[in-house]
Order: sequence, then structure tokens, then C-alpha cells
Amino acid sequence: QRLQTSLQAYPTALESQELWALLSQIAKAAQQRGWHLYVVGGAVRDLLLAPENTVVPLKDIDLVVDSFRSSVVDGAGVVLAQQLQQQYPEAELQVHGEFQTAALIWRARAGHAPLMIDIATARTEFYPYPAANPEVEASSIRQDLYRRDFTINALAIRLTSPQPGLLLDFFGGALDLRRRQVRVLHANSFIEDPTRIFRAVRFAVRLGFTLDAQTERFIRYAIDSGIYADLQAQKERRRLPALQTRLKAELSYIFQADYWAQSLGLLDKLGALSCLHPDLSIDAALWRQMHRVGRWRQRFIDAVGRDMGVAPWLMRLEVLLAKLDARSQIATDLQLPLGSIQRLEHLGSTEATLLAQLQPKQLPSDIYQTLETYDIPTLLLASVRYPKRIGTYVWQYATRLIHIKSPIDGYHLKRLGYAPGPTYRQMLTVLTHAALDGHVVSVDSAEAYLKRHYPLEQLHPQSNPSD
Ligand code: CTP
Repeated sequence: QRLQTSLQAYPTALESQELWALLSQIAKAAQQRGWHLYVVGGAVRDLLLAPENTVVPLKDIDLVVDSFRSSVVDGAGVVLAQQLQQQYPEAELQVHGEFQTAALIWRARAGHAPLMIDIATARTEFYPYPAANPEVEASSIRQDLYRRDFTINALAIRLTSPQPGLLLDFFGGALDLRRRQVRVLHANSFIEDPTRIFRAVRFAVRLGFTLDAQTERFIRYAIDSGIYADLQAQKERRRLPALQTRLKAELSYIFQADYWAQSLGLLDKLGALSCLHPDLSIDAALWRQMHRVGRWRQRFIDAVGRDMGVAPWLMRLEVLLAKLDARSQIATDLQLPLGSIQRLEHLGSTEATLLAQLQPKQLPSDIYQTLETYDIPTLLLASVRYPKRIGTYVWQYATRLIHIKSPIDGYHLKRLGYAPGPTYRQMLTVLTHAALDGHVVSVDSAEAYLKRHYPLEQLHPQSNPSD
């Protein structure tokens, strides 16, 4: 009932009534083939958590196909998704062969959120070795739910007969929702998939839940057993990238959220940052930097008047990693964007140069020339780490100096009689520096400045400005 109410009221890219009709249609198609269809995971959790009669925003709907006749065929989810796509050709179909899942995606449009319906085949995952990507085998819904991360994510609602609307709760997920706790399903969960440590923290903080005591012990045990060394061993075996992709996704969710500081604090307390590097922990100075980067990023954008092309979550992550000597290696392993990797790789020399060149009592044009060679994200990163010795100058640059231009341009130089050529660039630069230092404040003073420094009669003895 609640599922139907939410699906009928929430404006996704599909018309609301249509979305409910669509789910009913998939259920019917499954039923005809002798399959069961379930809504699982986050959607069920969020529906059960929400007060009655509220509309839960369901943008991601995870469905699982299981069989009640014989064993479900491999790829049943893909078969259903393909069938649906014929009726909804505007939806994009993505098939993930190795996981036997298919996704139908409706892009966002005005006033309507995007919608993703994921249809998987009930499966047992077994991890061939710790931290690997799971291998998949068709199996029953109970086992499919059992391989999941937490009890609160291992609930399912049946959409097919008999008993459509039946809640499957094999592991006490509904009780954990009432007790408001995140509880893991099995002891090895975090060793098999260390990204679940980050997920446990994210769910606990986002939902205002606590970590169940046993779950916390499993986390600490996984960390003490040497997760970082394990990850490095995976690297030797070239199996790290898939895991790092998931880790990067988790880090981006955590750092995007308003509650990032709370999550990071809990991760630090649990020692979980050692998944990134054994030496990583957060001291008071790093906390200040991490708070500062969010505030300063926005103010930099306002001051400079254009976006800097690096998302807030990524800047926060860069600040966190910047503390480590191995920062660019970790950024590479996490497959961060090339700009971030390079920024972190050159950070040491960038900061050394800036600290040496930015000195008190310098002319504005000197500060300008030192800073103009760096992009804004680089300056932001160095500034939050050295707010007084670098930040002060960068603020002056971003709020004032960057906006000061020569009062005259190339056309004006031509009108004054200077022959076009490479000297134009030089003259305009000199004029900009003079403007920065207050020697040139207007068109008249710029012309006078040029007369003194670039006398026309010496540059072009026979030229006549009125020609
Ligand atoms: N899952 C898991 N282990 C992971 C990632 C995901 O067991 N490392 C399972 C969980 O059961 C989860 C489901 O896959 O419910 C879907 O994952 P995801 O979409 O990331 O999470 P949601 O629970 O849907 O949460 P959110 O509301 O953040 O989307």
C-alpha cells in the first residue's frame, strides 16, 4: 500500500500513475513466466522508515526476480528489462552481463526527477577471495538477501501472487529499523568488501542510527586484520580497480552529504581511514582545513566569477589526501580525475614555490605574476593548507588583482599608431602590471605611460597616428 502511494505521488521522469502501472506490468510479466518479482534494498528500507502517508522519493528502484516453479533462469532480470524497454523505448537499457542485471533509465526532465529501475536475477554471490568483485550464481531470494550488507537493506516486498505486498524479513531488518541500528549480516562482510565499512558509517550517520556493537567489533577486526595490506596485495594481482571504484563512489557520497564531518569523524574513530593509508588520521589542523575548503571554495567562485570545475566533495578528498606523502599514488589508485592526481603530485613543489615567492611588502604585480601561472583549484588547495602564508595573498589575487586589466586594448594601441605585432602582448602586460601597482588608472594615464615607455617616434620613426 505504502509503495503504491509513494510511487503514485512522486514525480519521476515517468508519470506517477504510469510508474505504478509499469511495476505492476513487470510483475505480471514475471508471474506469467513462473517467476516472482520483489522490490528490495534501499526503497524498502526508506518506505518502512518513513511515517505513514508520507511520500518517499523513490528514484532508484531495485527489483529482484526469483522463481517459484523451478530454478530461475540465468539472466531473468535482463529478459524482463528487455521486454519492458520495447514498451518504453524512451528508456535507456543498460545490461551488466557478469552480474545478470539490467537497468532501465529515464533521464530527468523539467520538474521530474530521473528514474532508474534495476532488475537483477536472484543470486548468491561468493567472493573468490577477500575484497574481490563478487562472482554470481542464480539462486533464491533468501540467499540473494543474505549476501547483502546490512539487515536494514536485506528486506524485500513481493509484487507477485500469492500475497503481493508480503514483506520478506529473514534477518530481523524491520526490528533493526525500529531499534535504529545498522547491523551486518555476517562476520566476514567487511573483510569481503571493505567499502561496506564506509557504507555502515554513511547509513548510520544519514539515518541517525547507531552501529550495532557486534557490527562495530567486526569492523575493528577487519581493520586490525590489515585491510590496507590486503588491498595492496590485490593491487599486485591487478584486482584492485573494481574495489577502488566502489571506494571512490562511497567517498564521494560521504563528502557530498551535509553530514560529511560526522561521517568522517566516525570513520576516523573506527580507524577506517587506514583503508586509504595506514598513516591517515585526522588532527585538529586537518579538521580546520577540511571545513575551510568548503567555505573558501564557494567564496573563491564568487570572487573570481566563474566555477572552478572541481566538485566540493573532490576538493575535500584532495585536502584529506594532501596530508600524506603517498597522496598522488592514492589518488591514482582511486582513479580520481587527472587534474586531481596532478594537483596532488605537484603540491609539494607548488607550495614550496609559493612560500618562497610570496613575501610581505611585495608589489601587487609581483603577487599577480607569481599566482597567475596556477589554476584556481591549485591555489585553493595550497591556501587552505597555509591560510596565512599563502591564503592571504591568494585572497588578494582572487578578489581584486585578477579583475584589474589594462585600461586600453589592442585596438586602442593600433589607433595610437603602434604597428601590430608581438610587442602588443608585451605592452598590454606591462600596462596591466602598471595598473595593478596603481601607476595607470585611466585611459589617459595609460597613454601617458606608453609615451614614456614605448615612445612611438623611437619604435616607428616614420609612423603617423592619423594615417
Ligand atoms: N549492497 C551491498 N554491498 C555493497 C553495496 C551494495 O550489499 N558494497 C547492496 C545493499 O543491499 C543495498 C543494495 O546493494 O541495499 C543497493 O545498493 P545501493 O543502491 O548503493 O544502496 P541503497 O541501499 O539503495 O541506498 P541509497 O539509498 O544510498 O541508494
